Formats: sequence, C-alpha cells, structure tokens
Amino acid sequence: MKGGAAVLEKLKGASVPLSGTELAQALGVSRAAVHKRIEKLRASGERIIGTQRVGYRWTGSADSWTPSALRRGWVTDVVSFATVGSTQDEAKNRAAGGAPEGTLVVADRQTAGRGRWDRVWVSPRGGLWYSLILRPAIAPDRCPALTLVAALDWVRVLRRRGLDARVKWPNDVWVGEKKVAGILTEMSAETDRIHWVVMGVGVNVNNRPPAAVEAASVSQWIGPVSRQDLLSDWLARFARSYRRFVRSGFGPFQGDYNRWSLLQGRRIRLEGTVAMEGQVLGVDGFGRLRLKTARGVQTCVGGEVTVARRPA
Ligand code: BTN
Repeated sequence: MKGGAAVLEKLKGASVPLSGTELAQALGVSRAAVHKRIEKLRASGERIIGTQRVGYRWTGSADSWTPSALRRGWVTDVVSFATVGSTQDEAKNRAAGGAPEGTLVVADRQTAGRGRWDRVWVSPRGGLWYSLILRPAIAPDRCPALTLVAALDWVRVLRRRGLDARVKWPNDVWVGEKKVAGILTEMSAETDRIHWVVMGVGVNVNNRPPAAVEAASVSQWIGPVSRQDLLSDWLARFARSYRRFVRSGFGPFQGDYNRWSLLQGRRIRLEGTVAMEGQVLGVDGFGRLRLKTARGVQTCVGGEVTVARRPA
C-alpha cells in the first residue's frame, strides 16, 4: 500500500483522532513523513482536520457523494452503482422496460464504458459517469440538437467555476485544447415518434484521463471538485433548458452555442457518413454545423471533427 493510502486507511478506521506520533509508530515512518503524506492527501481532496495535542481526524473527501440526494425536481429516480459495465446499457434496459423520464443512472466506475463510434470510454473512480432517461415529445430528427443543449449547460457549469470551457460540436466539452466531457445520446424511435432517449454523459472530474488521449479533468485546473455539486448544478440547468428546447427548438440556444464554440472560425476536418474540410461558420437554428468548403457552404448533421492546430 502506498504511503498516503496507508495513512488514510488508519484515519478512516479510527474512531478517535490519531496523533502524528501514533500514526508514525503504526506505519514505521517519521512524524515528518506522516505530515508530508497528510499534506498530499489534503491536496488530493481528502478532508483531514489536524488539532494540536489532539491529532488528525478524517472527515470525508471532496469527492464523496450521496447520489440519492439528486432525486429532486424532475429527477424521478436515481439508480447508483459503485461499479457497473455501462450506465448507458443499464439506462437503456430500464427505458425499454418503461422507466419514466427523469430516471438517472450513475456509477463511480464503469468497466465497459462506451463512447461514440463504438469507442472505449475509460471510466475510473473519480469521474462522473451518468445516463439520463428522457421521453421528449419531439420529432426524432430534432434529437441531435438535444446533445448540443446538454453540452452547452456543461459549459455553463464549468465556466461558473472559472474554467475556459467551450462546446466542441457535436458532443464534447473542452477546456483549453483538451476534452473534459463527452456525450453519447441514443434513442429508440419510429419515424415520427420518439419512445425514449438515453443521454449518457462522461465528465473527467477528479480522475486522471489516460495520457495518450487529448483529455484532461476538471481537477487539473481547479483541484478536487465535488461531483455531486457539479451534477446538481447541471441537472437544475438542464431541466430548464430541456423544457425550453422541447417547446421552442434549438433556436433560443444558437447564439450562446456559437459564442462558446471551440470551433468557431477554425478550419476542421469532418468525418462520418461524409468527409469534408472547411472553415466553421457556426451552427444554424437546428444545431447543424455550417462549413465553408471549397465546394461552397455545406450543412452537416453529425460526424467526428478534427481541428486544425492553431499556429503556435
Ligand atoms: C464520447 O465522447 O464519445 C461520449 C462519451 C460518453 C461516455 C458516457 S459515461 C456514462 C455513459 N455510459 C457509457 O458507457 N457511456 C456514457
């Protein structure tokens, strides 16, 4: 067991405060080493109170949460897992079985997290992994713009905490030049009627994303953050946005979306059912991306975007 983890285990298991000397003796290290480890644990979000002549007491982590407390307002039910294959699959099964709109499935860790285009979504402890069941009374072809609305609300949540967050069409949230969140929206529908939509969201919060991918976590900028606070904030915003979107479509969101768009004005390559390159003009009133290409202005409904690097 690593040094910090051993100190934490002792503190968590103790019913009374433990002094630096007691910890040092129990772990066979110096008091200075104990102090150093405690400082590191605090920096990583563990709440450890130290009182002179009394000792150290662990009072929780920035990241501990009570998912059931999210059952408020339009969140009708919260299903939470310590470990699950994929919250998306759990939510889809429940949606197919008739679970109501507002059912939220969350997990501390996923072993088979999925991203768009069948990519693996690495989902260790510390991240925020959830899927929300929706049953919007809209035409199925309006559904893609719902992902944009959800991403925009994540931008608002993160900007409120001082991060330079931006939407990256169609389903990402980036901070600087790194992805912090992705959305996978799946639905079951007839040509003119949606049965259910499952919106799966992955946010790197207190976890460390794999170094090989262009990703980062919220805590890398602002230190450990409460996943519960972030998710409550998003749920409150999205409840309003969702009602507005169902009533009025994407039009009311278009201005803010373009304002906070990472891609605005940039040269990109779009891949998917069609491939093209061009300069981003913005999204239209339906959330479609408008691209200025060599063959004129093209309007795109979906795909995977690669951004041309900004000159250094
Ligand atoms: C992407 O950027 O490709 C979308 C990633 C979506 C990941 C989330 S995590 C919660 C939910 N469960 C999954 O298996 N996937 C989504």
